[in-house]
Amino acid sequence: METTLVLLKPDAVRRQLMSEIIGRFERRGFTFRGMRLLQLDRATAEKHYAEHAERPFFGELVDFITSGPIVALALEGNGAVATVRDMMGKTNPLDSAPGTIRGDLALELAENIIHGSDSVESAERELAIYFPDGLL
Ligand code: RTP
Ligand code: MG
Repeated sequence: METTLVLLKPDAVRRQLMSEIIGRFERRGFTFRGMRLLQLDRATAEKHYAEHAERPFFGELVDFITSGPIVALALEGNGAVATVRDMMGKTNPLDSAPGTIRGDLALELAENIIHGSDSVESAERELAIYFPDGLL
């Protein structure tokens, strides 16, 4: 059984899409092991996106992810990491298939409403950032 880290980014919360997105994960059958509403400080955002530190868009990425409240979810299920990534759709919403979260709800690469861990190793690292006291 795998557990993965999902973030509903600030645009998802601003656009009142929390229940729409959380409902998809509930209906798919994931077990919710953690759920928090929080706002990231820059240091934590830079830690989360450390793999992109040298990319030209890093500053904008940190500006955006710190721009308002986010929801962090710890979702458990068979193949949770890959299944969540499939449900999210491609990084650029213009390439995301209809039926995926980004393909149904987003149009902008920078405001693509959701993050999901990209590997089991990333999930372990990221879950420790958002749920330092562990999971239910
Ligand atoms: P995320 O980490 O947010 O779940 O997204 P992802 O795995 O699908 O994409 P990733 O390659 O990790 O990129 C992280 C976020 O950076 C923004 N991005 N901008 N300007 C650009 O070329 C560019 N490329 C990526 C996206 O908002 C992406 O979600
Ligand atoms: Mg990523």
